[in-house]
Amino acid sequence: MSNAAHRGSTAWRVLKFGGTSVATLANWRSIAATVQQRSADGSPILIVHSALSGVTDLLERAFAAAIEQGASAELLALQERHLSLARDLGLTVVPSFDAQFSSLRGRLESISEGGVPTARDRAAVIAHGELLATALGEAFLCAQGLQAVWLDARQVLRAVRREAATEQAAYLSATCDFRPDAAVQAKLREMGSIVVTQGFIAGDSAGDTVLLGRGGSDTSSAYFAAMLEAQELEIWTDVPGMFSANPRATPAARQLLELSYDEAQEIATAGAKVLHPRCLLPVRQYGIPLSVYATQSPALGGTRISESPAGEGGQVKAICAKNGVTLVSMDSPGMWHQVGFLADAFQVFKQHGLSVDLISTSETNVTVSLDPQANSLGPAVLDALQRDLLPLCRAQVIGPCASVSLVGRNIRGILHGLGDALELFAEQRIHLVSQAANDLNLTFVVDEAQGARLVADLHELLIATAPGDRVLGKSWQALTEVPVSGPIGAPAWWQRRRPELLALMADRDAAYVYDTATVAARCEALRSLRSVTHLSYAMKANPHPAVLRTVHAAGFGIECVSRGEIEHALKVLPDLSPAQILFTPNFAPRHEYEWALGLGVQLTLDNLHPLLEWGAIFSGRSLFLRIDPGVGRGHHAHVRTGGTASKFGIAVDDLERCSALAKAHDVRITGLHVHAGSGILDAAHWASVGRLLLQACAYFPEARVLDLGGGLGVPDREGRPSIDLVAVDASLGALLPSLGGRELWLEPGRFLVAEAGVLLARVTQLKSKGASAYVGVATGMNSLIRPALYGAHHDIVNLTRLGEAPVREVDVVGPICETGDVLGHGRLLPISTGEGDIILIATAGAYGAAMSSDYNLRQPASEFSL
Ligand code: LLP
Repeated sequence: MSNAAHRGSTAWRVLKFGGTSVATLANWRSIAATVQQRSADGSPILIVHSALSGVTDLLERAFAAAIEQGASAELLALQERHLSLARDLGLTVVPSFDAQFSSLRGRLESISEGGVPTARDRAAVIAHGELLATALGEAFLCAQGLQAVWLDARQVLRAVRREAATEQAAYLSATCDFRPDAAVQAKLREMGSIVVTQGFIAGDSAGDTVLLGRGGSDTSSAYFAAMLEAQELEIWTDVPGMFSANPRATPAARQLLELSYDEAQEIATAGAKVLHPRCLLPVRQYGIPLSVYATQSPALGGTRISESPAGEGGQVKAICAKNGVTLVSMDSPGMWHQVGFLADAFQVFKQHGLSVDLISTSETNVTVSLDPQANSLGPAVLDALQRDLLPLCRAQVIGPCASVSLVGRNIRGILHGLGDALELFAEQRIHLVSQAANDLNLTFVVDEAQGARLVADLHELLIATAPGDRVLGKSWQALTEVPVSGPIGAPAWWQRRRPELLALMADRDAAYVYDTATVAARCEALRSLRSVTHLSYAMKANPHPAVLRTVHAAGFGIECVSRGEIEHALKVLPDLSPAQILFTPNFAPRHEYEWALGLGVQLTLDNLHPLLEWGAIFSGRSLFLRIDPGVGRGHHAHVRTGGTASKFGIAVDDLERCSALAKAHDVRITGLHVHAGSGILDAAHWASVGRLLLQACAYFPEARVLDLGGGLGVPDREGRPSIDLVAVDASLGALLPSLGGRELWLEPGRFLVAEAGVLLARVTQLKSKGASAYVGVATGMNSLIRPALYGAHHDIVNLTRLGEAPVREVDVVGPICETGDVLGHGRLLPISTGEGDIILIATAGAYGAAMSSDYNLRQPASEFSL
């Protein structure tokens, strides 16, 4: 095995660009700049690129049309697609393009005239996508002053003959010889130092064009890199590298800076689409480092995959999910110690051409998974499989399932650290757990509907907040600077209003202060969600009158959980009508329901008991139902309100019964509700709740409102990404067409008020004890219990000395007689922090004063609004 490290800078660099990368002028400018930069040290460059995005599909259509009625319309579309890019690129005449285009026209015409088209014809037609695109690519680079030359990949990449391959496979999913080839190296050197060629296509021994199948361009580039013994392969695509989860679904996904070949293979195979797993074999075999970058933003860096990357210790590096997995569970009491059971069973899978992915065994059961990518799994195949397994065992088919994998190095060694993460499975039906023999993944197979949510939760716990290191880079959200809602990210309001805050504290020891302008800005941010028809404010987060007035003025309804809250809201907001109040009690006494019905608020039931035991009081009413989504979400176990371990909501299994009870009592169910928990930053969450509620509508056809609850999280420290409201809106928007006119509602609390509030407290005493240093302040867990109760983080600064460098590490503690009375552990404050200074505890506007107490008979901080 040769090793890339020994190759000098005169070795080739292979750069591969995908279909979207080569489809715009902006990207081509970036490509030219990259090529210039990569060749600056004298390295020769081979550019391998794909057809313009969408063109392969157009060619497939042209091929089909040529057989049926002639492909002139498709040809026109293809021509226009390329010419419009050529115009953007400033290219007027490109003879090589014209030559390729007439070759395509000729091919299609002869198919129209000729007999039955073959796989050979199809490959020849499809290959024109790459041939046409590279003609434009070469011309553009030349126009930029780069000495680019065009290479026909079919003259270099040779398909290997596979004895068993069908004609179809030989032409449409060929594999190539990729051994280092001195003759090819010499030939390319002779051509020039910037060579442009096609991905996805190769030639066979008869001189015919063949295609490399799925992921073909990545694979081509890896073949070329191996044949040229390249110093590096760079794959340029539309995302800056591989991520710790699918970044489109999980914006908190972290950029993976360095991976080993086998980890990258594992992530690629486990469902990540950025790199085709096939392309890793050639580079791995010859020790060629492979990097993945984004064409449109090279500055964002990417992932480097090599033999010996950083981070050799045990670490979960990615959470991957794959849908459409089918399980076959085989039960046979007689299989215990029976020689050859597995061999016989697998023989049956083989007969049906089914490849087995995961496997788990017990004394009487063997369960295997079938990967949808590797198998074509129609009902007929599965029926036949079950039938043929019958002599051996009873086989049950389970699906559709999702496999969710924790991927990383030495997973066995870090199982003890996964405690919190494994708790997430408490509410799941796990069909199979499998730990890879190479110790690179731990995989759980669950119902498909649970997959996405599980990935988000696992990612949040294991990766999202892990400190950056040589493996975990920035989050997708941070890298792409997704626009944040409202003025988040600007200097916090309390920095601007510091003089007012210090003045307010001149004669007091502790105070909560709320900035109503921030509340109003957050209201506006939520009102910009176009898919949401109605918003309510969950006043439990902060019932301060100034807050209630602000949200009410912004058109929000009020969500209440008790008679006390309802009475307070009606008192503070005299023009609030009961109909604008959502009342969501939990285990409240009967008289509270009766009182609320009398008042005319919109009542939500979250238990069958009221209907079973006092159903008559609801007769003739319209009610909402709170459904348990089966699994909770949120920043801490105490705030996750789903699953059997949580007291909230009606189980999905009880909905049918509930519907019958409602009918029996003449109750109309006009709305369905889920609140899964609090402090959720995953933008996809509310759409997934929406889908669940939509399914539940099957039992409640009169439901016109789907209330997706609250739970929108806020960053708990400066610099952390905010929730991506644009993505929330987009995912909800995608749901709208299936809603049949039903409305989507939200009822957030925290999002509107958390960042609008600060807790100010005066320093009382300082202490050093052993290695610990304490800064004591005048109020503690009696004002803000969140750090003690949830281990919640609140940023803490010395407001008096805001400009001074925070360099002294201290615990900020309150005056309450509990060791847990700590507002912040290991915080940095200025060295000169002293008695009398005003300490500011940030993001305290939600569930701060609202959860305060006079424990120790110490009055909590009083509240002020600005
Ligand atoms: N709707 C219902 C039915 C709720 O129970 C809650 C909060 C909300 C809406 C508003 O959730 P938000 O948007 O604020 O996340 N004390 C905890 C939070 C408990 C939330 C209780 N229910 C904390 O300090 O983090």
